[in-house]
Amino acid sequence: MSRVFSGIQPSGVPTLGNYLGAIRNWVPLQDTQEAIYCVVDMHAITVWQDPAELRRQTREMAAALIACGLDPKRCILFVQSHVRAHAELAWIFNCVARLGWLNRMTQFKDKAGKNQEASSAGLYVYPNLMAADIHVYHATKVPVGDDQKQHLELANDIGQKFNHDYGVDFFPTIEPLIQGVAARVMSLRDGTKKMSKSDPSDQSRINLTDDADTIALKIRRAKTDPEPLPEHQSGFENRPEARNLVGILAAITGTLPENVLREHGGQGFGAFKNTLADALVAHLSPIAAEMTRLLEDPAALDAALRIGADRASEIAEPIVAKARDIVGFLPSR
Ligand code: AMP
Ligand code: TRP
Repeated sequence: MSRVFSGIQPSGVPTLGNYLGAIRNWVPLQDTQEAIYCVVDMHAITVWQDPAELRRQTREMAAALIACGLDPKRCILFVQSHVRAHAELAWIFNCVARLGWLNRMTQFKDKAGKNQEASSAGLYVYPNLMAADIHVYHATKVPVGDDQKQHLELANDIGQKFNHDYGVDFFPTIEPLIQGVAARVMSLRDGTKKMSKSDPSDQSRINLTDDADTIALKIRRAKTDPEPLPEHQSGFENRPEARNLVGILAAITGTLPENVLREHGGQGFGAFKNTLADALVAHLSPIAAEMTRLLEDPAALDAALRIGADRASEIAEPIVAKARDIVGFLPSR
């Protein structure tokens, strides 16, 4: 059995992209691996978060994860800032990672945009914290969406450099688990941009909290082109919106895009969008209802997260203690 780790930022309502690209793939791993899942609030504050909103969104994200099928009894589910070992190992990693490596991170460039000088230092070293999240448990498998691949390569570079510099074999190699046809779900307004919970336009995404009418409306208004759906996937060339919507239907109904095209190829988008909206509503409504139910009892949710943090600390503490010793810190007690 391997140890699996993954994290998600409480920086907004979880989207269909988070669900299909990440969360949904986390669920079956609970039963085959030792699975550790984390709401990464420390990552979220690399860009400004209103404190009250952050608290609300952290609970909301935890509720979403449980509603999507993560069971705090079958996995370790907790909030990043509750386990201090993440921050501690991240500092050591700040001293292992090279500026040249961080300079290559495309997500920093995307998020910082033109104004890098005004970005937080946290946003820049964010991949070091992410590496610490994983290595502090000696986790070896990390299920994520396609966009996180580069960060995982960096996490491996950091682990290897640490091992090499200190002459140890301490941090294992991490293997990304990037799954499925929907490893990258795109914006409903622009098929070349990824669907994101931080996109300013709510019309660009399906939120897991959207009601049936909202989902149907967003799908109806989703950007398309005037051509009917292609018969084969080769017809997706230069049609990112068509590719995206077909990919979503395939992912949500558990099939492949070619099967969706076998059934819907040649159809106009009008009819196809109705099918897609119905499938999304059928799949997502029970999740939204369960989220609402869980959020009615925040005390119970907090208690479950505290138990998760205690279990996570039990694994992380001895590993970070060993890392302290390897780098030459004096024992603190
Ligand atoms: P984030 O929203 O950045 O905290 O991402 C949480 C997880 O969802 C990561 O594993 C991402 O790779 C995944 N993810 C986020 N957006 C998308 C998307 N549009 N398509 C597929 N996966 C996504
Ligand atoms: N950086 C990831 C994202 O934005 C979230 C994350 C933080 C993560 N720590 C992690 C994912 C560790 C996997 C493993 O999507």
